Amino acid sequence: MEIAFYNGEFLQEVDEKIIPIQERGHQFGDGVYEVVRVYNNKPFMLEEHLDRFQKSAEAILLQLPYTRQELTEIIDQGVKRSQEKNVDVYFQVTRGIAPRLHLFPNTKAVFSMTIKPSRPIDPAKKESGVAVLLLEDERWKNCYIKSLNLLPNVIAKQHAASRGCDEAILVKDGSITEGSSSNLFVIKDGTIYTTPATKGILHGITRLAVFQLAEKMELPIKEQHFTEEFLLQADEAFITSTTQEILPINKVDEFEIPTHYTITKKLQNEFLKLTK
Ligand SMILES: Cc1ncc(COP(=O)(O)O)c(C=O)c1O
Repeated sequence: MEIAFYNGEFLQEVDEKIIPIQERGHQFGDGVYEVVRVYNNKPFMLEEHLDRFQKSAEAILLQLPYTRQELTEIIDQGVKRSQEKNVDVYFQVTRGIAPRLHLFPNTKAVFSMTIKPSRPIDPAKKESGVAVLLLEDERWKNCYIKSLNLLPNVIAKQHAASRGCDEAILVKDGSITEGSSSNLFVIKDGTIYTTPATKGILHGITRLAVFQLAEKMELPIKEQHFTEEFLLQADEAFITSTTQEILPINKVDEFEIPTHYTITKKLQNEFLKLTK
């Protein structure tokens, strides 16, 4: 069953039309969000997601309307109500409902959430990889904030799809930052490389899981800025995100990437064990 929660209440239907016109999330994108995947009734890396949620809220000077304990309980309750074992939980907090003025209103922040069965990942993509398109990163300087403002990401993803690609890989000042909704990893001569967790990328939770797995598996992993050419010469490359998990890359623009995926497959297998 699909579940929705808005401003303190569970709703009858996910599609219930209840967002007030003067909701600042709707009018300004004035809020932040998270997405957590639940495997077998257990939210994966929930504490890390809640840490990032808190950091994102603090970065936009927004006070969360619930304590961490309360957030955990609302999520748990929602998952139970859904009666599903494997779900995607999206939750956001906005600066509330107030007359349309740029200045922060004196209102309480509003928390909302949807819970739906996990979007399946195409097994062919897990196995054989996805094509990606290189595009300029046109976003702001604070991409570490998981902001509701996703316009450049949405447009980049759409451009990629219109060229038959699954993801847009963003490039800023000659360096790759990340995907439009994923982090990027490149493997060269046995070492795994990814862009450093600066303010210019989202500090992905799946990215963090890959670091933990690499450490456990004694695979060398490095945070380093790199160029499009480095990606094109990769032995393997993959993207990560909560809903896409670990997906190999088989093509960058019109260039093929090797498809043996030796290390990527090992990481996928270990990730599967973590989430089983
Ligand atoms: C821009 C961007 N980078 C990276 C990620 C991956 O983050 P996570 O692994 O926490 O889902 C996402 C996920 O939505 C994203 O939107």
